[in-house]
Amino acid sequence: MALLFLFLGWCCLVGFSEAQPTPVSGLSYDFYKRSCPKLETIIRDQLKKDFNSDIGLAAALLRLHFHDCFVQGCDASVLLDGSASGPSEQDSPPNLTLRPAAFKAINDLRALIDKQCGRVVSCADVVALAARDSVALSGGPDYKVPLGRRDGLTFATDNATRASLPPPTSNVSFLISTLAKINLDTTDLVTLSGGHTIGIAHCPSFTDRLYPTQDTNMDKTFANNLKLTCPAANTTNTTVNDIRSPNTFDNKYYVDLMNRQGLFTSDQGLYSDSRTKSIVTSFAINQTLFFEQFARSMVKMGQLSVLTGSQGEIRVNCSARNSGSGFWSVLDDGWLGDVASVF
Ligand code: HEM
Ligand SMILES: *[C@@H]1O[C@H](CO)[C@@H](O)[C@H](O)[C@H]1NC(C)=O
Ligand SMILES: *[C@@H]1O[C@H](CO)[C@@H](O)[C@H](O)[C@H]1NC(C)=O
Ligand SMILES: *[C@@H]1O[C@H](CO)[C@@H](O)[C@H](O)[C@H]1NC(C)=O
Ligand SMILES: *[C@@H]1O[C@H](CO)[C@@H](O)[C@H](O)[C@H]1NC(C)=O
Ligand SMILES: *[C@@H]1O[C@H](CO)[C@@H](O)[C@H](O)[C@H]1NC(C)=O
Ligand SMILES: *[C@@H]1O[C@H](CO)[C@@H](O)[C@H](O)[C@H]1NC(C)=O
Ligand SMILES: *[C@@H]1O[C@H](CO)[C@@H](O)[C@H](O)[C@H]1NC(C)=O
Repeated sequence: MALLFLFLGWCCLVGFSEAQPTPVSGLSYDFYKRSCPKLETIIRDQLKKDFNSDIGLAAALLRLHFHDCFVQGCDASVLLDGSASGPSEQDSPPNLTLRPAAFKAINDLRALIDKQCGRVVSCADVVALAARDSVALSGGPDYKVPLGRRDGLTFATDNATRASLPPPTSNVSFLISTLAKINLDTTDLVTLSGGHTIGIAHCPSFTDRLYPTQDTNMDKTFANNLKLTCPAANTTNTTVNDIRSPNTFDNKYYVDLMNRQGLFTSDQGLYSDSRTKSIVTSFAINQTLFFEQFARSMVKMGQLSVLTGSQGEIRVNCSARNSGSGFWSVLDDGWLGDVASVF
């Protein structure tokens, strides 16, 4: 019996260490093992409940982590409410379609975590774990997240945000060179774009492909249906990113691309460009391959320019840096209730 346990222990430990990439310096898989051992359970249990009433929140949280990491690193800068201090990352056009529910969910999670562990967990780590759980709970791969990020003290300007987040009208050359600047390669590009297997988009994000002239690289029936959803270029309406399985994290996004049913130019281009086409096909025919690579690319994206050690801070309130000498305590809860959704 003891031998059996020894054997199981040996096999699984080896399997574990082989599957996990080595974290960047300052991050580790067991960072909160002593200070907040229930961290990951708290987040997953809460999100399970949240997703039961709003599955769209999963997409919103996944996108939030992407925006955080691409703009000056995964430092929760995207969460900072810049309205008091002038135009910030949040005022930039790409922010306008981040869902208020995602910001609220992060603040709610932090409140739950603080109750059990005190203020030891960074907002940036909560965002990274929430993105992982969004993927796993929607049917995608589960994977370990290196932890120990610290929260940034500054947010990016509107211009810096635009420069870091490629627009949906981007061609593959532009996408490859934008991602290369942050050490993400062509495989990461095709893989991470697979995040569009869940969630929604607003008409103005893709109507350049419908009006004034229809993109010939778009399936005609698909285009005609999109025109019903978006009768004009600026219609305030949304459609799903992945028509085959809009709420399930699977490889159907790549099947969409092979059928010219990708929503954005940045999506569909991946199947036209010779540098990315074969990767799209390989994911469309092998979901396991996509899932394994998605986990790898997410861990890579999740460690972009992280703050560690004594850099940055652990924010009291994920929406504001700590400098304000505790005036937060006099403000009541429910502040997000009156933030209207933009677009
Ligand atoms: C490669 C460059 C990318 C471009 C150009 C891009 C662009 C966009 C755009 C324009 C939207 C729709 C916004 C709207 O109109 O509401 C969107 C939604 C979304 N994106 Fe991306 N994206 C990219 C990469 C990523 C990555 C890396 C991820 C995550 C791994 C991601 C996850 C999502 C998700 C989940 C949504 C749906 C959000 C929701 O339903 O609230 N995207 N993206
Ligand atoms: C950025 O978007 C979020 C979600 O829609 C919203 O809560 C926040 O107020 C926005 N920031 C600004 C300054 O508009
Ligand atoms: C932001 O970019 C625009 C357009 O490129 C430019 O006109 C403007 O001066 C920039 N603003 C700042 C603060 O750098
Ligand atoms: C790709 O987009 C960039 C930036 O918009 C543009 O300068 C370039 O000409 C485009 N390349 C092709 C091949 O269309
Ligand atoms: C929004 O899209 C739906 C179909 O998805 C369509 O029936 C409806 O007319 C659209 N609304 C507007 C204002 O265009
Ligand atoms: C859309 O554009 C048209 C023509 O430019 C304008 O009249 C209309 O007010 C715009 N609608 C929205 C919802 O922005
Ligand atoms: C699919 O990808 C997985 C993971 O790389 C691999 O083990 C498996 O052999 C592939 N399946 C097929 C049918 O090629
Ligand atoms: C958190 O900070 C935001 C932005 O400054 C503020 O609007 C909100 O009231 C604060 N929340 C709490 C619970 O103090």
